[in-house]
Amino acid sequence: MNTIELGNQGLVVPAIGLGCMGMTGFEEGNMYGEADEKEAIATIHRSLELGGNFLDTADLYGPFKNEQLIAKAIENKRDQYIIATKFGWEIDDQNKVTWAINGKRDYVKKSVERSLKNLKTDHIDLYYMHRLDKNTPIEETVGAMSELVQEGKIKYIGLSEVSSETVKRAHAVHPITAVQSEYSLFERTVEERGGIKTLQELQIGFVPYSPLGRGFLSGQIRSIDDLPENDFRRAIPRFQEAHFYKNIELVDAIDVMAKEKNITSSQLALAWIISKGFVPIPGTKRRKYLEQNMDAVRIQLTEEEIVKLESIIPLGTDTGAQYDEFSMGLLD
Ligand SMILES: NC(=O)c1ccc[n+]([C@@H]2O[C@H](COP(=O)([O-])OP(=O)(O)OC[C@H]3O[C@@H](n4cnc5c(N)ncnc54)[C@H](OP(=O)(O)O)[C@@H]3O)[C@@H](O)[C@H]2O)c1
Repeated sequence: MNTIELGNQGLVVPAIGLGCMGMTGFEEGNMYGEADEKEAIATIHRSLELGGNFLDTADLYGPFKNEQLIAKAIENKRDQYIIATKFGWEIDDQNKVTWAINGKRDYVKKSVERSLKNLKTDHIDLYYMHRLDKNTPIEETVGAMSELVQEGKIKYIGLSEVSSETVKRAHAVHPITAVQSEYSLFERTVEERGGIKTLQELQIGFVPYSPLGRGFLSGQIRSIDDLPENDFRRAIPRFQEAHFYKNIELVDAIDVMAKEKNITSSQLALAWIISKGFVPIPGTKRRKYLEQNMDAVRIQLTEEEIVKLESIIPLGTDTGAQYDEFSMGLLD
């Protein structure tokens, strides 16, 4: 497995990670269809066998159930995995998500203790601020995270869905190792806003989340009715009537190109990200998809192929918003 250094503080990760969110979903129910704990754990184990030991989770997922599942899966093998988790969506003492964002120093300290306990570990490899708390200076949040590094509770600091300005302010407090944003052939806002350029200038790693457009780019979702009633994606404009069928046409065009190369559309979508030197974390809860996705690291795209692919969905194409109005308002 090829490896990449995220940032320049020493965090070396495989060229592709494993997103674990869908293995439990949020508190209201499952995100992407029914979860199956046994298969999820087998997927985490298979990932390690294939050289993919970079797991992505968050306290929000469950809440806490996802971190607990990971703890169960990696028992006795903690040191063989690189664990990235996140905090920031406020979770109260009754384990209820309040949906406020909290980046205050005390809350950062409280959150890390909960995650360490749930993950059954004494350190987190990469700790992300999940969303910016717009009422707390980023200097306070990252200052508290920096204290956690000094205390040995976390190794490296990451941020999620932040603007260039926030990244620069945070990086001035403590070196930021990685930034995570939604990024795929369907979602390139961070690039359009100059966010990726900022990361490159500051030598900060980029970890695209939802690299398969939450499954859309796999070509497996053919109609809105393919999504279960309680599926999170039904609330996302990209999956709604106004955009869905236009997006299917784009997916079909990607599929034609993938077939020409004898690969799947998911692999093409991932290989495109990997070709840029970014570390995607495709989410899956089953070994079958995991194996296919991890194989994407072996696919080489020529310059012509990249140009052709990017001409199917040119930068700036309106595929619908990545979140509903409430969640869009939480982006920096
Ligand atoms: N920082 C943030 O705010 C944030 C937000 C969202 C996600 N994330 C992280 O990013 C990770 C990945 O994002 P994501 O899970 O939202 O989206 P994704 O990786 O774009 O897509 C996941 C969906 O694609 C399906 N899938 C995966 N591989 C496939 C394949 N080869 N063929 C067909 N279908 C395939 C999965 O199916 P199954 O579930 O059935 O396996 C799942 O429904 C998450 O797990 C989470 O850790 C972070």
